[in-house]
Amino acid sequence: MVESWSLESKILIKYCFVNISNHSNFTEFVYTSSMSEPKITQINVPPGFIDLGMGNPDFDLLPMELLHQSAEAYFTTSDPRYLQYGVEQGDGYFCRALANFLTTAYGTRVDPDLLFVTAGASSALDLLCTLYTLPGDMIFVEEPSYFLALRIFEDHGLRVVPIPMDDEGLQFDALEEKLAEFRPKFVYIIPAFQNPSGRTLSQARREKLVERAQRYNFLVVADEAYQFLHYTQTPPGSFASFAGDVEQVISVNSFSKILAPGLRLGWIQAHSTVIKRLAGSGLLESGGGMNPYISALVRGLIESGELVKNIANLRMEYARRLNVMNAALRQHLPTAVYTLPQGGFFFWVHLPGVDATELRRKAQGFKVDLRQGALFSSQMGMQDYVRLSFCFYGPEAIEEGIKRLRDCLGK
Ligand SMILES: Cc1ncc(COP(=O)(O)O)c(C=O)c1O
Repeated sequence: MVESWSLESKILIKYCFVNISNHSNFTEFVYTSSMSEPKITQINVPPGFIDLGMGNPDFDLLPMELLHQSAEAYFTTSDPRYLQYGVEQGDGYFCRALANFLTTAYGTRVDPDLLFVTAGASSALDLLCTLYTLPGDMIFVEEPSYFLALRIFEDHGLRVVPIPMDDEGLQFDALEEKLAEFRPKFVYIIPAFQNPSGRTLSQARREKLVERAQRYNFLVVADEAYQFLHYTQTPPGSFASFAGDVEQVISVNSFSKILAPGLRLGWIQAHSTVIKRLAGSGLLESGGGMNPYISALVRGLIESGELVKNIANLRMEYARRLNVMNAALRQHLPTAVYTLPQGGFFFWVHLPGVDATELRRKAQGFKVDLRQGALFSSQMGMQDYVRLSFCFYGPEAIEEGIKRLRDCLGK
């Protein structure tokens, strides 16, 4: 019976929230529940809407069964230590398992002593800001950049200098110009399949960036949340490969996109001096290492090979959805300009002459949503860009969403 339900009613049953308001200086739309039902997720999609802007994984791809098995296995061990305050750097057995996984994935040996467990990439960025910056300090970011990282930097009172990008990532001439003027505390980059642009920083620019970081003594904070989600082209090696030798390079990663965001689990790979500083922070001394219980469950999935299988499944499914979105865009929005993403979650679509903030407002009437480019700009640029995700919905909803966007643009 469920099979015969319409797409709309399935979406309606899955996400039932209403009302639209506007908040924060990032002008993100927020829908609030009118049914006074307690909320569980951050997802706020009104009934019947298709939110193509959504950067979350699809509910149907979250590994319920795997975590069930792993939790069951954990509780049969009767080992209470993972319910105790954990060692500050993160559980040593988990770090060993993670190092083995990364050694295979990167093709170079990863030392477990250079890993630090976090509660996800966001928590890593927040902790790095706490330890390495003071309010008023300057940092460089890509233009565009992940808008919620910009929110974290705002919380820390940092001054953000945007560096434009091209198809090879951060534009090096522009970076050099800014370096002649300023000394940033760090440069924040998303080097593989960037959110939102989908671009990947070339190997040559990675090497030059690391050289400049050493020369001018600033940190490179590489947020590598999409490193493992490649579909048609593998990205250059992770910034982690520099981290053992170069004090200035910090690789941040997360299980949010390769397992589940609700786990709140990620890691930093960095030089031993950085790892010591992180583990010695007040937050870690007081609260102990992050998420010992969840890391025990994820260790089970790494050791059993299920993490690798899960990533392979996600890559296959997301590649399929990427093709569906590409075909739908070509058919229904032929004026859209974009570079086909090779990995990650997003299409970064240029709609010349269209005010994307206005388009988003109008799209509400067509029950479709997107993220306007200006959200990802630290200087309110990118006005005629939109970010569309191909990962939250299956093929049918992706196609329907693009048709609605076509109808909206046509009116
Ligand atoms: C580039 C980037 N960094 C960080 C995050 C958030 O990661 P986490 O869930 O690990 O905090 C996201 C999520 O969309 C992201 O795209």
